[in-house]
Amino acid sequence: MDAADAIVRVENVVKDFRPSFGLRSRRVLHGISFDVQDGEIFGFVGPNGAGKTTTLKVLMGLIRASQGHATILGCDVRETAFRQHVGFLPENPYFYDYLTGREILSFYAKLSGVASRAREGRVSELLDWVGLSAAADARLRTYSKGMLQRVGIAQALVHEPKVVFLDEPMSGLDPIGRKEIRDLILRLRDEGKTVFMCTHILPDVEMLCDRVAIIVEGRVRHAGATDAFLGEGEPEADLVLAAVPADLPAQLEELYAASLRGHGDRLELRVREKFVQDVLQATLGAGGHVVSVTPHRTSLESIFLHAVEESSRC
Ligand SMILES: Nc1ncnc2c1ncn2[C@@H]1O[C@H](COP(=O)(O)OP(=O)(O)O)[C@@H](O)[C@H]1O
Ligand SMILES: [Mg+2]
Repeated sequence: MDAADAIVRVENVVKDFRPSFGLRSRRVLHGISFDVQDGEIFGFVGPNGAGKTTTLKVLMGLIRASQGHATILGCDVRETAFRQHVGFLPENPYFYDYLTGREILSFYAKLSGVASRAREGRVSELLDWVGLSAAADARLRTYSKGMLQRVGIAQALVHEPKVVFLDEPMSGLDPIGRKEIRDLILRLRDEGKTVFMCTHILPDVEMLCDRVAIIVEGRVRHAGATDAFLGEGEPEADLVLAAVPADLPAQLEELYAASLRGHGDRLELRVREKFVQDVLQATLGAGGHVVSVTPHRTSLESIFLHAVEESSRC
């Protein structure tokens, strides 16, 4: 599938907000472009205030782009027809908390046009799918944040959409809640749905997303396959050495451009993979010990921080 038949396509989208009449408008999105392919989990990643929710609002047709063009399933996002194929979990969704899980989902099913005879079955199926069957008849005010987020995901799926948009689905959750949501997102992909998620939680992106776009201050700084990102740059290794003679660290720094960190009587260093043998020989030759050698994997965090730094220099 090429970009032309992408599930989501964003081309040079600009968004200006006018604070109030007569005041100068503020540009929040500076011509962003990316696309989302069929059946993938796409991560839209950026620090707070980068423009993720604004982009999502443009895609959901809640606000209009000032310039540029966006399509979902080939339809212009300003049209309404495609919306029956799209599920949406907003950032911090609010639900009437005196209703039960079952009642709120029945309400959304009705709103989404699920026929009344099918509604009860669909709601039970969804409650089961998100693991809330046991709490189905308890009021939402008794739910944990993680349970509410699962209600939010169930609500987005009520009409069996093809594409699901999730705004910060893991934020504010404890590690168990995050894992539960991650598992649900993976199940969505297994069931053939395309998932677009905005987030600033990078480990979740590394674990979940097939492709990512990094947005900083309203500009897309990187876009591509997560694996390709993580394999970027020259490979490096982390070494831990012990009983190192006093003059060795300086030598390793100079000869092999090692970055060093002292830790008690241990020396931790990172070097390019091609220097690992030399460093080991130098260490053993000088009477030091080798504790461990671990390949270093570039993290999304380092790429992300680099993108933010680059942006602040521009
Ligand atoms: N309705 C609005 N009017 C004016 N500025 C807005 C409006 N909505 C968002 N912004 C501004 O746009 C920027 C991007 O916001 P947002 O898209 O919510 O970022 P993110 O979701 O990445 O944290 C922020 O600086 C925010 O203050
Ligand atoms: Mg946001």
